Amino acid sequence: MTKLWDPINLGNLRLKNRLVMAPMTRSRARENGVVGELTPQYYAQRASMGLIISEGTQPSPEGQGYTGTPGIYTDEQISGWQRVSQAVHDADGKLFIQLMHVGRMSHPDNIPSHKKAVAPSAIAPGEKIFTGNGMKNIPVPQALTITQIEETINDYRRGARAAIEAGADGVEIHGANGYLIHQFLGENSNERDDEYGGSIQNRARFALEVAKAVVEEVGAQKVGFRISPMNMLGGVNEGQNGAALYHHLVSELNKLDFAYLHMMHVGHEAVLADIRQTWKNPLIVNRVGRKVSEVGTDLDAGNADLVSVGTWALANPDLVERLKAHAPLNEADANTLYINNGAVGYTDYPTLS
Ligand SMILES: Cc1cc2nc3c(=O)[nH]c(=O)nc-3n(C[C@H](O)[C@H](O)[C@H](O)COP(=O)(O)O)c2cc1C
Repeated sequence: MTKLWDPINLGNLRLKNRLVMAPMTRSRARENGVVGELTPQYYAQRASMGLIISEGTQPSPEGQGYTGTPGIYTDEQISGWQRVSQAVHDADGKLFIQLMHVGRMSHPDNIPSHKKAVAPSAIAPGEKIFTGNGMKNIPVPQALTITQIEETINDYRRGARAAIEAGADGVEIHGANGYLIHQFLGENSNERDDEYGGSIQNRARFALEVAKAVVEEVGAQKVGFRISPMNMLGGVNEGQNGAALYHHLVSELNKLDFAYLHMMHVGHEAVLADIRQTWKNPLIVNRVGRKVSEVGTDLDAGNADLVSVGTWALANPDLVERLKAHAPLNEADANTLYINNGAVGYTDYPTLS
């Protein structure tokens, strides 16, 4: 862990260390998409990490897929996020808000309009989702028209502007884990025959247009982008040419020269090596399945400039202190990951002292 505690520049920020809190949906927002009352405290408790990336936050009502996720498209939602940014900054932390549009990973029960979800193509993921009425099959979504694609890109743009208005240090575009942008990248989730489907270049087009719009809106220094090559989440499969697809995507993202790329890494080492080579700005790696003792390994090996951790950060508000002291970590309580039970399993994880 030689490098983990070294400061680093990210965009125009100076981060005090290279340990990043990975984005985690916690389903504590109110019905109107305003962050929960305890959310500022939850993030502020974790501000000793170099950077906090917030839970996935919908830039539009259509972008919501799960109950209790926050939005960033109404004035009240922006005020809610202002309280979070303020609390994190008061605790000397840095915050990027993750912009998450779930695409087809949704259910009409869970979204304000109760309309059909939207996606690149009318293909269901073949998965179930938790709704207010129990677990249900995810229905077939509606394929986006070209006009709707343009509107969706504008939603990301507005969401990014709103996040900055709310005092966040930046936004992370969620291009990973089976959600809308990833659905465009997938071969089995995108059967479009227009310029957004088919070839690698076409499947990457939506991701790149979103990134370009957001960079234009808030400035490259305030933008990050998350990918998860070949992890099959949400049933998205990039197909045989997945490595080539990511090579193209990352080469083009690199031209936009924004603050960081964040990769959820599930063991495709050659893909990680290629991305490391292709992406010139800071790379955050979230290596799934590593042990606590291995948290800094990717930094030491030169695979990454920062590393992100999810579950350990959720369960350990003082993760930095614990790792420095080689102290044991609290286990996350699986029952309260997504269930709003006040402070329980949210702001009540104990610190060492
Ligand atoms: C409760 C929970 C919620 C998550 N929500 C999101 C999310 O909103 N956006 C996202 O990109 N990843 C999300 N993830 C994935 C994490 O960011 C991370 O990639 C994953 O947990 C693996 O890292 P870890 O082993 O350090 O936990 C979530 C993970 C957990 C455990």
